[in-house]
Amino acid sequence: MKSKFIVLFVFLLLSVLIACGDDSNEPTASEKNTNDQEIQEITIKFSHVVAENTPKHQGALAMKEYIEEESGGKIKVEIYPMSSLFGDQDEYQNLVANNVQFIAPDLSKFVGNNSQFNVPSLPFAFRNDEEAIAFWDGEKGQEILSSLEDDGVIGLYMWPNGGKHLTNNNKPIEKPEDVNGMKFRTQGGQVLEAVYTALGAGSESIPFDELYTALDQGVIDGQENTFSNIESRKFDEVQKYMTVMNHTRVDYAIFTNTTFWENLNDTTKKIVEEGVKKGTDVARSEAKALNDAAYETLKERGQVEIIELTDEQVAAFREALEPIYDKFEDQIGADVYEAVKDVSGN
Ligand code: LMR
Repeated sequence: MKSKFIVLFVFLLLSVLIACGDDSNEPTASEKNTNDQEIQEITIKFSHVVAENTPKHQGALAMKEYIEEESGGKIKVEIYPMSSLFGDQDEYQNLVANNVQFIAPDLSKFVGNNSQFNVPSLPFAFRNDEEAIAFWDGEKGQEILSSLEDDGVIGLYMWPNGGKHLTNNNKPIEKPEDVNGMKFRTQGGQVLEAVYTALGAGSESIPFDELYTALDQGVIDGQENTFSNIESRKFDEVQKYMTVMNHTRVDYAIFTNTTFWENLNDTTKKIVEEGVKKGTDVARSEAKALNDAAYETLKERGQVEIIELTDEQVAAFREALEPIYDKFEDQIGADVYEAVKDVSGN
């Protein structure tokens, strides 16, 4: 009799544990097998660090709209902009843990995982979004985007933001020597650090959501970013000068969690995949227009003095930063440099 009770108790305990164990967004393998034709009712979280009128947020919105409409509302996509869910410091760990299903971080923040993510920081490597897209869609770019697989992360598509420009509080920057002695915030990575060292300046990597305050409090003299990020986060309120440089880039990739992805049944995955493509199309096609509009807004606001360099002035910066390529060739790879050259016409 006693052993019957023990068997019953163990059975009940196991049933409770199985029932409680499945409260995540992630469909279970058995759901995948049994409901292959039905759209799974799931909530997908997309976290990012920038404002809403930016290429990344517009891409995320297009993705959300498509997925929610095509799934008849069964799949919900929640977008968390401005580091409101996770910031630079913790979004990747939370993707790995499947607490968030999509992030689209600046690739230069991943150099700790693979130094080839330094490509957007290589000085004057790409002249425009098209060239950067061609690199990341090409064989080498795809190889780099796949390099996080051991963490359980899939790199889907590159999303551009654009070329970066220098802002600072000390003086108008017109030539490499003007940068000397200042301290700049970077997104991170050995190449950006070397860029500032080559110009006789110091640098510090600071998370995006702390940047406004760091500029305001004078922790650093300046920073480099796209017009879209400078305008939408109002860095012109706390910076006096902006030099239009286009010397390095902010480029993203949309990353997802492998377990989440593989547990989507075919019907659901098709909708999500299509949604990611729609988001990619919008992020890619809107990036330039959003940056151009942000530049106009910065001019209209008139808070920063804008310095547009002549071709000769740009050439002086190119020359000063050229040694960076030799310095990082072994780390990044001659094959990656070749692939950059193939698309850039530089
Ligand atoms: C930055 O940190 O300046 C940017 O990478 C933010 C972003 O995601 O565009």
